Amino acid sequence: MKLRSADWYAGESRNSYIHRAWMRRGVPSDAFEGRPQIAIANTASDLTPCNAHLTEVAASVKNGVYEAGGIPLELPVVSLGETNVRPTAMLWRNLAAMATEEMLRANPIDGVVLLGGCDKTIPSLLMAAASVDIPAVVVPGGPMLNGTFRGVPLGCGTDVWRLSEEVRAGTLSQSDFIRSESAMIRSRGHCNTMGTASTMALVAEALGTVVPGVAGTPAPDSRLLEAAHGTGRLAVSLVAEDRRPSTFLTAGSFRNAIVALAAIGGSTNAVVHLLAIAGRLGLDLTLDDFDRIGSRVPVLVDLLPAGRFLMEDFHRAGGLRAVLREVRDLLDADALTITGKPLVDYLDDAPIWDPEVIRPRDAPLVAEGGIAVLRGNLAPSGALIKPAAASAHLLRHRGRAVVFDSIEDFQARIDDPSLDVDASSVLVLRGCGPRGYPGMPEVANMPLPKKLLAEGVRDMVRVCDGRMSGTAYGTVVLHVAPEAAAGGPLALVRTGDWITLDVEARRIDVDVPPDELARRAPDTQNFAAPARGWERLYIDHVQQADQGADLDFLRGSSGAEVLRESH
Ligand code: FES
Ligand code: MG
Repeated sequence: MKLRSADWYAGESRNSYIHRAWMRRGVPSDAFEGRPQIAIANTASDLTPCNAHLTEVAASVKNGVYEAGGIPLELPVVSLGETNVRPTAMLWRNLAAMATEEMLRANPIDGVVLLGGCDKTIPSLLMAAASVDIPAVVVPGGPMLNGTFRGVPLGCGTDVWRLSEEVRAGTLSQSDFIRSESAMIRSRGHCNTMGTASTMALVAEALGTVVPGVAGTPAPDSRLLEAAHGTGRLAVSLVAEDRRPSTFLTAGSFRNAIVALAAIGGSTNAVVHLLAIAGRLGLDLTLDDFDRIGSRVPVLVDLLPAGRFLMEDFHRAGGLRAVLREVRDLLDADALTITGKPLVDYLDDAPIWDPEVIRPRDAPLVAEGGIAVLRGNLAPSGALIKPAAASAHLLRHRGRAVVFDSIEDFQARIDDPSLDVDASSVLVLRGCGPRGYPGMPEVANMPLPKKLLAEGVRDMVRVCDGRMSGTAYGTVVLHVAPEAAAGGPLALVRTGDWITLDVEARRIDVDVPPDELARRAPDTQNFAAPARGWERLYIDHVQQADQGADLDFLRGSSGAEVLRESH
């Protein structure tokens, strides 16, 4: 078969001379004579600490590529570190996806190995690869090892929220809180809870884009480098077999991803990412598919934030294949993986080694997990709740709204002793959607009022058009669509309105008659769009959460062809 890179390198023209000559810097002399050119899209960055080790992983990929006869080419791509990037890494996910897409297309490569880890990196890489549609395989960078503080394991993210609430409640000293800092981040790798990074690595494997058995391997584990080496080899054969994303990612692949997401008790963020990836493939995935396929699936994995353990325990207990084996009947048996074999073919020899961490099907952590999709006059296009991370007694609740128009408004008033709020109130935070913030930050799990914490209140119903961290917990209705800034009815709610949440009925409503709602002037927050730059482009084109918050013009694929030369 003719390689894509031959369009650059083959022949004796002046242009092929230019393409080859500048690349001849120590590579084998036959490098451009029909050998597959394999990019390693690397999100390693010192400012993305969760991914900083990926350059070592890339070295193992390179060895595998060479060994199989290909030419490895490291391609640093836009990297997003969840903890540093302001105002929220989600604002830049589509930028990373667009930049990666264009660089994969613009360069003489035949296939790509995608190295990601921290939350947005695997989603942006998969969105890019789907839109270029060249052979692509993911190596997830893996979680960090369990860290302990005073003998107790600390879960990244989750325990930050928990410990900071303890400080606010006066049950933990400020100095002990700060001392736990370096214990939480024990090693290289991404967050070790079932947050978004762990979730997306596992979901990418369920989707078929990771070699089965690899996702969840801890970052410092030598088996990760072995897997990276093997994936490098595989990438070369993917080119020969022309196994592009569009050739094996189907509705069935997304079914498997949704079943996995539910069974692992994964992050709500996976919903926007999977919707965006499906959008790039032209597949008709909707919010309702998540509820229909996933909401009755049992949660089998006892990891923080829903449970007790961490990713190192998960890997030791058998990992994703052990989980999927328990729910095998729910999977699409035909959906293929990157190896060319169906996902279900990898489940025969996948025992559970520790049934405390990975529960058998008949003893689940939560009988019906998954993500519930709510609708109602507060969320005509949908909203999510993760019942496994919520309080059972609040899943059906009626309370009076306490409305905050922005995160600044929330921060200014939430701890005010005179704020009219009690444990039955419903906290409403708006202006945090894709357009409103902009970028849809992880603020939906808003901290509870200090005076209620002191009374022992640990959960309240919260409603927001933003997201929440995959490491967070609570009875939080999030991703409300349309968002307030896009004219959603969330903008019309007033403090004192009665709000009814009924997860069983899949409803979230404000008890205000339609005619009165219609009369209320939309809340006039300052949603003025920035004058220039990415934010300008983003606000003009970003879609709502129920469609994956991608830019409207980035849905679909442009393919890999580039006809014109630069000289
Ligand atoms: Fe990078 Fe959590 S901050 S995965
Ligand atoms: Mg996160």
